[in-house]
Amino acid sequence: MTTQEMIQAFSAAYGHEAEMMFFAPGRVNLIGEHTDYNGGCVFPCALSFGTWVLLAKNDDQILHFRSLNMPQTYDISIHSIAPQPDNAWCNYALGCIDVIARRHPEAKLESGYDLLYYGNVPAGAGLSSSAAIEVVTARAFTEIMHYKPADDIAYRTELAIIGQLCEHEYAGVMCGIMDQFASAQGKKDHAIYLNCDTLEFEQVPILLNGIKVVIANTHSPHRLDNGAYNERVRQCQQAVEQISKIRPIKYLADLKPEEWESVEMAIADPVARRRARHVVGEVARTDAAVLALKKGEIAYFGELMTASHVSLRDDYEVTGPELDALAEAAWQIPGVLGSRMTGGGFGGCTVSLVRDEAIERFKSIVGAEYERKTGLKADFYVAEIGDGVTRLM
Ligand code: GLA
Repeated sequence: MTTQEMIQAFSAAYGHEAEMMFFAPGRVNLIGEHTDYNGGCVFPCALSFGTWVLLAKNDDQILHFRSLNMPQTYDISIHSIAPQPDNAWCNYALGCIDVIARRHPEAKLESGYDLLYYGNVPAGAGLSSSAAIEVVTARAFTEIMHYKPADDIAYRTELAIIGQLCEHEYAGVMCGIMDQFASAQGKKDHAIYLNCDTLEFEQVPILLNGIKVVIANTHSPHRLDNGAYNERVRQCQQAVEQISKIRPIKYLADLKPEEWESVEMAIADPVARRRARHVVGEVARTDAAVLALKKGEIAYFGELMTASHVSLRDDYEVTGPELDALAEAAWQIPGVLGSRMTGGGFGGCTVSLVRDEAIERFKSIVGAEYERKTGLKADFYVAEIGDGVTRLM
């Protein structure tokens, strides 16, 4: 759908013209999985897929939520903003407006708005469609509510924090900040090397000569399971508490792999111990991968991606048969440098580095092998790495 068509759809829905329009992207994470809420680093990039919102002020003190993707509509008074029942999609937007008002008491919402959303991030694919809704809404309403610091970097970081808090409070997922941060701070043809403890980051060029970032969608019926995600968060916190009795740490990311053996037995539960082992290894792999990329050692970057998947499969246990089938098929193909699940897991997508000449072979062989093993059809997209949130109108 073009932006012109969205503008027409807004007029058709509300009988008057849109006054503003914003876009925020989804993301794909290259490496650094389940490290963000453990104070570690991540390496995601923003995609050209994302969510658009069109808005116009109204006179009725009501926020009217409409979407071109979802049939449900919501009409919420600006005086009674609170989470809506039944996993309402508008929660990803409402939560942001609520968080802005609480974090910035000087920011006031003085009138109602007509809103129309449209997104083209494949649903349930682990490419952060919810973060895109949050960040695009945070961008629009910080402007509407006159909270917009002059420092663009600090402003974008604040948009990510608003989105993350919305996810905690209105969706009940105790996520880290990676998805919202990538959506807010993304840069065309760059990945973001983010320290999730300090929120310091570096944009690293990712234009790879003769190699593409290929996303494969499992279309698996599993969705990111909030219960299993929050359980991983709790297991990591438990590991931190128990390790801290012998070696005080704030996060699992504070541990170096060479220290692991001296602390691991402080974690009583063998499952929590495996979860922690993944995190300690993944943080080190991510740092090593970024260094390898900067040195042009792409083959090593790919090997670290594959090692990341193995650790997520065996120790963190967030892959599942569909993601494993895609990754394992990819590893067999000459010209694939590395392949791994991306995002929270339990379904969703893999991300692979594939040489240009191997892309067609990759799609046909991985697609066929995946269908043979799971009975499902995968979809493949060559990632276009785009910019973070932006105002279009
Ligand atoms: C989801 C969460 C992120 C991050 C990833 C796993 O996408 O929203 O914060 O934890 O899972 O790396």
